[in-house]
Amino acid sequence: MSGVSSILKKRMEFVAELKNHFPSLECLDSAADREHWGRDWTRFHTPAPCAAVFPRTSDEVSQILKFCSEKGQAVVPSGGLTGLGGGAVATGGELVVNLSKLSRIEPVDRAAGTVRVGAGAITKKIQDSAREAGLYWPIDLASAGSSQIGGNIATNAGGLHVIRYGHVRRWIQSLEVVLMSGEKLELNGDLDKNNTGYDLRNIFIGSEGTLGMVTAATLKLCEAPRELKTFLWALPSLKTGIDVLGELRSRSLMIHSYEVLSNNCFELVHKCQGFAKPFSKAAPYYLVFEVDTFGAADVSETLEKWMESCFERGVVEEAFMASSPADARSFWAWRENITESLSQTAKVYKNDLAVPLREIADFAAKLEKQAGAWFGEDRLFLFGHLGDGSLHVNLAKPDSMELGEFRALCEKHNHELFALVQTHKGSIAAEHGIGLLKREFLHYSKSPGEIRLMRSLKTVFDPLGLMNPGKLLAPGR
Ligand code: MLT
Ligand code: ZN
Repeated sequence: MSGVSSILKKRMEFVAELKNHFPSLECLDSAADREHWGRDWTRFHTPAPCAAVFPRTSDEVSQILKFCSEKGQAVVPSGGLTGLGGGAVATGGELVVNLSKLSRIEPVDRAAGTVRVGAGAITKKIQDSAREAGLYWPIDLASAGSSQIGGNIATNAGGLHVIRYGHVRRWIQSLEVVLMSGEKLELNGDLDKNNTGYDLRNIFIGSEGTLGMVTAATLKLCEAPRELKTFLWALPSLKTGIDVLGELRSRSLMIHSYEVLSNNCFELVHKCQGFAKPFSKAAPYYLVFEVDTFGAADVSETLEKWMESCFERGVVEEAFMASSPADARSFWAWRENITESLSQTAKVYKNDLAVPLREIADFAAKLEKQAGAWFGEDRLFLFGHLGDGSLHVNLAKPDSMELGEFRALCEKHNHELFALVQTHKGSIAAEHGIGLLKREFLHYSKSPGEIRLMRSLKTVFDPLGLMNPGKLLAPGR
């Protein structure tokens, strides 16, 4: 028997044993199911799990992981499949353990301002439950309708409101995790104050499912924003966007979101969605941002006066403040439709970077030149969460290039791009994580000492190396 067929035979034997051991567990192993459940939103790897299972409780997760440990079977945790780093992709016969069925959202504890949720709870449903209780779940993502909290925690997701509320990490009161051995841990409990040494909860947040599986969490909620004013501005330069941010901050205004898109993105959305352009001429960048006035008349007045002064001082030529919810929605539509319009148009290679704000304009200017030299004119679609110094660098495949050739070119270009990020003291992954896509490049953002300690940690939590193997840390280095 060839090496390949003996591997396949072993996988089939494992799945048969699994089905036998857990007769009531949903286990999908048709070719189509393995293809579907073995990947996330990244499209650069071939999914090849042995099967996908759908446990209903954390005890069942624990039994499955214990069983897999005993059999030496690797697993990949998965949820809403919306990841953009390949963190939930199974490429080597792993068992996909999909936590979608752990979707319970318990009643909100109003006094504590918390809610207990299963890992499979959909981000949008958590937002809705919080709102019904008069509170607010501040994490909002483009994928909120299908992404799940387990994945949000595993990747320490960011999104549209990081400028005001930070990443997921800030909002986790406690975590239930299951280790590869099957051991279940509750980390931190219902406590705000708990100074008892290492905070293991925080080690799991952002660990991309490499240390254990998050099966439930208690989330901290906050007060909802009161009255948001929404703006759409044409920026004469990216530097102006940074200056405007400084002006808002120095007036003690509460910035709720602060997003940017390049003219290339603006033109793309115009072309794909047919939106009428509100500006009389093109600008290099556009800004969509929101300020919370808390319903206070004096804050609204400050905002209006400040905007007038921006016109008078020539900071901007064309800028709008929404005068109705419909206006606000139409402003946001320019930003929200970029990813969709890109996927309609071309195969896209995504990078998600962060650079300190004081560096960002200089960085973006060099990046534009670099992308032009590598990929030709107009292939770079730059947008992101400017207020957090976070840029989504999307490169669209030229029609004339094969997909494999394009991917290889992007990976080669990554070295030059990440060297630039390093020069500007940035990060190669602002919010999408490392996963499979960036593991070879981790050293651009983490020192050898940090990587050594990360590897040691991995061994402590997962000595057999069966939990989401090959993600975050490249094998064998
Ligand atoms: C966004 O900010 O829209 C998301 O991170 C998705 C993306 O980068 O396409
Ligand atoms: Zn983003």
